[in-house]
Amino acid sequence: MSSVDADIVARRLPHILAARERLENLWAAGTDYARDLVEDARLHNRLLHLDIDLTGECELKCFYCDRTSDRHSDMPNRVELSTAERLDLIAQAHAMGATTVEFPGAGEPMADREFWQIVESVQQHGMTPVVFTSGYHLDGAAVERLFQLRATVFIKHNSHDVAIQDKMAGARGYGAKSNAALQTLLKRGFNRSIPTRVAIDAVVTPQFNEDFAEVASLHRWCRLNNVHNYIVPLIPEGRADRSSVLIERTRADHINNMIRKIDEEEFGLSYRPSRPMTGGYRCRQVNVGLFVNLFGEVYDCNGLGRFLGHTKCDSLQTIWNATFARHIREPVQDGFCLLRERVWDTVSSSGLERKLEFYRNFEASHGEDEVVNRGLKQFRKAAMLASKA
Ligand SMILES: C[S@@+](CC[C@H](N)C(=O)[O-])C[C@H]1O[C@@H](n2cnc3c(N)ncnc32)[C@H](O)[C@@H]1O
Ligand code: SF4
Repeated sequence: MSSVDADIVARRLPHILAARERLENLWAAGTDYARDLVEDARLHNRLLHLDIDLTGECELKCFYCDRTSDRHSDMPNRVELSTAERLDLIAQAHAMGATTVEFPGAGEPMADREFWQIVESVQQHGMTPVVFTSGYHLDGAAVERLFQLRATVFIKHNSHDVAIQDKMAGARGYGAKSNAALQTLLKRGFNRSIPTRVAIDAVVTPQFNEDFAEVASLHRWCRLNNVHNYIVPLIPEGRADRSSVLIERTRADHINNMIRKIDEEEFGLSYRPSRPMTGGYRCRQVNVGLFVNLFGEVYDCNGLGRFLGHTKCDSLQTIWNATFARHIREPVQDGFCLLRERVWDTVSSSGLERKLEFYRNFEASHGEDEVVNRGLKQFRKAAMLASKA
């Protein structure tokens, strides 16, 4: 095929045509929140999305991993939520109108002993399970089961090159396994629907992306294969909380523009890019979702989130309706990533204190929020018990 013919084919792929009508048709099912959907949810104060952590265990050692120790392992005796409590939270989210339950991973979600039971419950409620995975445990049987459970899969895929995959995950043999898992997902047809049910999660670091050539080729591959392109600069948290692994704001803008040009010239897609996400993707989760970590602490998002309350003392509904929670979801997010932007601006506190900064400012001008305060007391009580155990 000549390059002109190839261009014409690319522009006429069904998912590309669908994206010209609605760009969100290129995002992964369950995360394809369009502006009007978010606006309607805001109008009716509806929660659409629950993020929930499963196990903190993980066999890999990605040098850029954003997990902070307070999210999984800082106190050896901290009590994790039981499976019954997690199932109850999923039921609560469903009752509040949620359509998606996502497992972003305090570790490797698929390594959780109750992983399948929990994913099944999401599907039984008629919601979309969205699973982030390194792909390390994703064999043919697991792919089939996820397919039957109507799950969407975000698989770590930093490079087509297995040696780079191994280096980034700190484990020899990882890349071959994970790349094979991605192929199995495609063979099973995860990318045959619109929106697709498969995404690659690729992080852009200065170490492995000197001229961003592979970012461009990964992006093209995604577009041609109807795979959601979750290609992002690092969240400056956990092991990535140091400037040597981060790309600067101007280089993030450069990548966004490079991808925008590819989309416009090769796929006929026009949009205004929004840093930090490439390819026109705009995170809108903060307006419509909550994140519950391993211990029942609730945040607005699973990155460098803002503490909102604790499920051991309040229902999701109460936390959702608290003054501080309403305050932080008032501004329309539409792609803005406070987590990345504020660390690009200043690097200040760390751990839980960083997650409380926003609340401290709110408290100074608006007064206390009893739900946040109750949650903090619960957090401190649990920490004290853990240190004595
Ligand atoms: C924290 S991991 C947990 C799930 C699973 N263990 C995995 O690695 O896919 C979820 C996703 O976040 C990505 N990730 C990890 N650290 C990150 C960082 N500092 N910034 C942006 N994404 C990051 C991972 O590559 C992965 O795709
Ligand atoms: S990014 Fe995922 S796979 Fe890598 S160390 Fe962190 S939790 Fe494990």
